[in-house]
Amino acid sequence: MLVLGLQGSPRKKGNTSFLLSAFMDVAKKLGARTHVIEVAKKNITPCMGCAFCEKNGYCVNQDDDMKPEIYPLLREADVIVAASPIYFYNVTAQLKALIDRCQAIWSRKYKLELTDPARNYRRGFLLSLGATKGQNLFEGVHLTAQYFFDAVAATYEGSLTYRRIEYPGNMEKHPTVLEDVKEAVKGLLSPLLGRKKILFVCRENACRSQMAGAFVQHLAGDKIEVLCGGSEPAVEINPVMVEAMAEKGVDMAFRKPRSIEDAISAGQPDVIITIGCEEECPFVPGAERQDWDLPDPAGKPIDFMRNVRDEIEMRVKELVNSLSG
Ligand SMILES: Cc1cc2nc3c(=O)[nH]c(=O)nc-3n(C[C@H](O)[C@H](O)[C@H](O)COP(=O)(O)O)c2cc1C
Repeated sequence: MLVLGLQGSPRKKGNTSFLLSAFMDVAKKLGARTHVIEVAKKNITPCMGCAFCEKNGYCVNQDDDMKPEIYPLLREADVIVAASPIYFYNVTAQLKALIDRCQAIWSRKYKLELTDPARNYRRGFLLSLGATKGQNLFEGVHLTAQYFFDAVAATYEGSLTYRRIEYPGNMEKHPTVLEDVKEAVKGLLSPLLGRKKILFVCRENACRSQMAGAFVQHLAGDKIEVLCGGSEPAVEINPVMVEAMAEKGVDMAFRKPRSIEDAISAGQPDVIITIGCEEECPFVPGAERQDWDLPDPAGKPIDFMRNVRDEIEMRVKELVNSLSG
C-alpha cells in the first residue's frame, strides 16, 4: 500500500513538514510504503487554462515534473495526504499549482467519462495549520481539498488542522499532535491494511498484467491489493491497451511498467498469477499460484487486444468471486 504525501510548504523543517513526517512515520510503522513529494522543490508550471486536456485527456505541457513523476504517483497511491500551511486562507501557491494541473485528471473523469480503477478505495486526508485563531481559517482549504480529492478519485476522509501555529517549532510543541496523528493514521489506513495481495506477472507489464490488475482494483480494490510487474518491463504501457480499456470506461493513463522485484518490494503476495511467463517468475514461499495462458497482444491489432482484455475480465470476475466466496 502506498501512502503519498504532498508537502506544500516551501519552508524547510517548518510546521507542515513536521506534521507530515509524523504522519508518514506512523503509516510506515503500520506497514505502508510512503513517499513524500516536496512540492516546492518540483518543477510545476501553473495551468494555462487552455482546455487542451478537456478534449485530449492530458496536459499540453509535457515538460515539467507532472507527467513523468507526479501524475503516476497520484494514480499509484492508495492514500493521498495533502499538507499545507494556510497562505491567505488557502493552500500555498506551490501546492495550488499542482492541484490546478490535476485539471487533466478531472477532464479524464468528467469530460471523457473514464473511471480510475482506484476510485472505490483510494482515500484522501488533509493536514493544515495557520498562525491565527479565526473560526473560518480552514474553510478555503477544506473546499479545495474536497474538489482536489474528487478529481483524483479519492474519498475525502478527514483532516487534522491546527490554529495558532506560526513559527518553526510551534507544531512539535503542540500538546496533542502526536496522539492526534496516531489516531488519524490508524483510522485512515485500517480499512486498507488487511487486504489480500495478488501479484500479476507478465512479460512487459505493459498490457496483460496491467489490465488484470486494473480490473481487480475496479471490482474489488477495497478487499484486494494489486501488485503487478513484468519479467522484462517495457518503458511505457501499451497505448493500444489504454485504448481498449477506455472502451470499457477504465482509465489506465499515467500507469508505468515495473519489474517483478519492484512489485514484490511493495509487499509479499498471497496469490501469484502469471500470464504467459510462468518459468520466469520468482518463487515466493507460501503464495498460491495460477497460470493464465493468454497470448501476448503486444504489436497486434486492437481486435486482438480486445479479445485478451475480455478474457482477462472474465477470469478476474471468477477470481474475485472465488476469493470473496
Ligand atoms: C504568504 C503567507 C500567507 C499567510 N497567510 C496566513 C493566513 O491567511 N492565515 C493564517 O493564519 N496564517 C497565515 N500565514 C502564516 C502561516 O500559515 C504560518 O506561519 C505557518 O505556521 C507556516 O507553516 P510552515 O512552517 O509549514 O511553513 C501566512 C504565511 C505566509 C508566508
